[in-house]
Amino acid sequence: MIKKFFITGTDTNVGKTIVSSILLKKATMSGYQTAGYKPVSSGGQKKSSSFFNQDAILLKKSSSIILSDREVNPIAFFENAPPHILSKFQKRSIKKEELSLGLSNITKKSNWILVEGAGGWYTPLSCKDTFSSWVKQEKLTVIIIIAIKLGCINHAILTEKAIISDQIKCGGWIANNIFPKDKYNMHYIQTLLNYIKSPFLGVVPYFKNKNRINFKKIKIKLPK
Ligand SMILES: Nc1ncnc2c1ncn2[C@@H]1O[C@H](COP(=O)(O)OP(=O)(O)O)[C@@H](O)[C@H]1O
Ligand SMILES: [Mg+2]
Repeated sequence: MIKKFFITGTDTNVGKTIVSSILLKKATMSGYQTAGYKPVSSGGQKKSSSFFNQDAILLKKSSSIILSDREVNPIAFFENAPPHILSKFQKRSIKKEELSLGLSNITKKSNWILVEGAGGWYTPLSCKDTFSSWVKQEKLTVIIIIAIKLGCINHAILTEKAIISDQIKCGGWIANNIFPKDKYNMHYIQTLLNYIKSPFLGVVPYFKNKNRINFKKIKIKLPK
């Protein structure tokens, strides 16, 4: 059976991409043919005449199957701003059919797919539609990445409630220690365990050196 997950987070910059890369590596180690998909990105870095998006590069590198840049990230905006605003200014519409087409292409080549959203749960794709409605349409199982920092408990509760009220399956949550450990980290996680009823998949440690991550040492469960 093909497994398809959607990674959301309590906000932008909470570790969705880095945790996605870890999940992809773990799923590869478990024998799956894995693929990362970033349907819509904003924020690029120049590469000769073109540009590339860092999230898409990391997802591509962490996938076990070989995909082109475009297959991983069909819709890419250079500026770093909400995609639907860039879409309007650049007259480049973001159609849910295009997102689905890219996903179905990847589905033909792999059996464990991880889709990274943009921003948080209710990031718009247009003035009328949010990313979440596409997630519902595609029946993806959602994983919430929670960066352990001030404000995350409220954001995590809101995010899980929104997913459940949208009648979408929440496959679990991961606590990401985005900052060096402080004495309250465990208390944040304990509080989250009390409030968030979706499965707890584990804690990602703070990385001093992000280029030397030992994936085998990170104890997170793969979502079901
Ligand atoms: N566990 C961690 N340890 C150290 N740095 C982290 C950790 N998680 C995320 N970061 C850093 O925080 C920033 C945001 O992470 P990223 O995965 O790009 O977030 P998002 O995809 O949610 O925007 C990046 O610079 C990333 O390397
Ligand atoms: Mg990201």
